[in-house]
Amino acid sequence: MTVTPVHKLIGARIEELNIAHDTDSDVVSQLWSLIQRYDLLIIPDQRLTDEQQIEFSEQLGPLETTKPGSTGAGTKLVTLSNLDTDGYPVEPSHRQNLIRRANQLWHADSSFKPIPAKLSILSARQIPDHGGETQFVNMRSVYTALPNHEQEKCDGYIAIHDFAHSRKTVDPNLMTDEERAAVPPVRQPLTIDHDEHRGRSLYIGSHVSRIEGLSKHCSQQLINRLITFSTQDKFIYSHHWKVHDLLIWNNLTVIHRGTPLPDPLMPRVLVRTTIAGDKPLIDCE
Ligand code: OGA
Ligand code: MN
Repeated sequence: MTVTPVHKLIGARIEELNIAHDTDSDVVSQLWSLIQRYDLLIIPDQRLTDEQQIEFSEQLGPLETTKPGSTGAGTKLVTLSNLDTDGYPVEPSHRQNLIRRANQLWHADSSFKPIPAKLSILSARQIPDHGGETQFVNMRSVYTALPNHEQEKCDGYIAIHDFAHSRKTVDPNLMTDEERAAVPPVRQPLTIDHDEHRGRSLYIGSHVSRIEGLSKHCSQQLINRLITFSTQDKFIYSHHWKVHDLLIWNNLTVIHRGTPLPDPLMPRVLVRTTIAGDKPLIDCE
């Protein structure tokens, strides 16, 4: 395989690899070390069936089961699509498009779970010629760029991640009571310590509803300030999708968001598998 960085701070393009055929344990361990180094991998030209995507993903670790309310609930796949089951575009106000609006807020997948996800693996099945990019930020670089006093302050904080919070900002009725009950708020450290080579990362995004120990006002101020700092242009890599691109990113070191389609009726279909975490980020007290 060949490896070409795509941005100064995040992401590498991997070529000459056919994951459906070449993925033995050597390739899997190479991919893991590339993920540790680049945080986001872009592997073009991977024409996959759902079964092949699951089979490849499971080589990287056990998969999350899709939660109630997402397309694919109860399976190992999340489908992000603006088409109905007959393949026609849904109305702009349709639930599938509201979910896409929520995905346009900066976030880390499954940060609202007691054991948050490690990796997301997203495959482009149908993609418009232009628009609908996905943007990524390396939160290890963001942490490094924070002033020392800010780093130290953040290291001491616990953030509350609440899936209902991010959904509410799009539409207060987006979640049913049953969906809400499946994902109660959880506590996560505001910064994550990785190994000695990879430093720390800031762990924040749209699911963060507040910072423990701060007033509502101060909490909101800090969250906004950190998100604004993290999403400066210099940190952002924008991925212009091509059909059959496969992206893999580390949710513990990366935040991402979708961007709007110039025309919401342009078909856009992506399928995600998510590698589950294996331990909580916070020690039990
Ligand atoms: C995701 C996601 C954004 C997009 O797959 O987790 O947030 O651009 N996708 O579809
Ligand atoms: Mn996402």
